[in-house]
Amino acid sequence: MTQPRPIPIVACLAGDGIGPEVMAEAGRVIQAVSSLMGAPVRQVHLPFGGDAIDKHQHPFPPHVRAAVKASDAVLLGAVGGPRWDSAPRRPESGLLELRKELDTFANLRPVRHDGIDLMVVRELTGGLYFGEKMLTDSSAFDTCSYSREQIERVAQWAFRLARRRSGRVVSVDKANVLATSKLWRQVVTDLHAAEAPELQLTHELVDSFAMNLATRPGAYDVILTENLFGDILSDLAAAMGGGLGLAPSASIGLDGPGIFEPVHGSAPDIAGQGEANPVAMIRSVAMMFTYGLGRRDVGRAITAAVDEVLAEGLSTADQVHGGRAYATWEVGQAVCDALGHHATGSAEFADHPFGRVMARG
Ligand code: NAI
Ligand code: MG
Repeated sequence: MTQPRPIPIVACLAGDGIGPEVMAEAGRVIQAVSSLMGAPVRQVHLPFGGDAIDKHQHPFPPHVRAAVKASDAVLLGAVGGPRWDSAPRRPESGLLELRKELDTFANLRPVRHDGIDLMVVRELTGGLYFGEKMLTDSSAFDTCSYSREQIERVAQWAFRLARRRSGRVVSVDKANVLATSKLWRQVVTDLHAAEAPELQLTHELVDSFAMNLATRPGAYDVILTENLFGDILSDLAAAMGGGLGLAPSASIGLDGPGIFEPVHGSAPDIAGQGEANPVAMIRSVAMMFTYGLGRRDVGRAITAAVDEVLAEGLSTADQVHGGRAYATWEVGQAVCDALGHHATGSAEFADHPFGRVMARG
């Protein structure tokens, strides 16, 4: 997909549990920015996860795979639930196949909350989770490996983001012990000298970094790290950012469509009751416009509208302590209404490589 399309195609995979409930609000926000900001998007709804197992006996059926590959961005709700826990193929396996299909190696998780403004950039397709494994009754091992190229491509993402933010990057590793971390630190240092000397790069060891992040999160901006450390640190960061109902993510590769999804799962305990918080999903839509469709202006407007609604205390039950809890649709509607205050008239198109640029006019 090299030619920008007049109207980008977004593959909407609502999935299971609260997935369809929060995806419905995402759709309304997309409609609102389409008319307010001239950002039309074709939403193609496709079955995924448990829903696709029920309909097609596969969590990521061939026709969905084909549509995803032909799309400009993928919006994902959540998958899984007790209904499929004993299924021969679990809904979650569709997620791994989707990420593999699109080779999304950089996972971006912003955290904005109470004076905290962080962006965790986690390597997603290498390291311990993907290395050779062995397990017997008496012993086991997992292998962690990284190549220079794998480190460079994710570090490039962190540097790109830092240029648009405060210019500061902290790279987190365990270079006093691990060989992969020694390489990680060397490659990040080399790339910084070669491509981004204007940025302020520091290195920290993961254990003391976790303590520093928990005690003074305001000291950090872009956090670059490998797969395992990033898994743990991004959940820690999300917890400091107000919890699962608020946390979005983007997973991005070199040029194919990115995957934009809330950090939370399908929340079977509250599914179908209209009380799921749609903010994590709506913030994922903002990331889609910024990083997937090259419309930073739209991403910024959605982010500002969400911030306004949260500042008014208009929230679902998970965020409300004392006051009235609003329904999923009410929060979604409030964001659409607030967009009127933040939508700017003139479209601003991001430069490559922030996604493929939406066609002008
Ligand atoms: P979960 O994120 O679905 O729920 C954890 C807790 O947070 C629950 O109490 C839930 O009600 C609450 N919660 C989550 N999102 C919320 C929202 N938007 N608004 C209000 N409350 C919210 O994680 P859990 O319970 O461990 O997993 C449930 C299912 O989701 C499992 O089948 C799991 O495999 C799957 N899962 C899927 C993910 C994905 O699709 N990317 C990610 C994580 C879990
Ligand atoms: Mg995790």
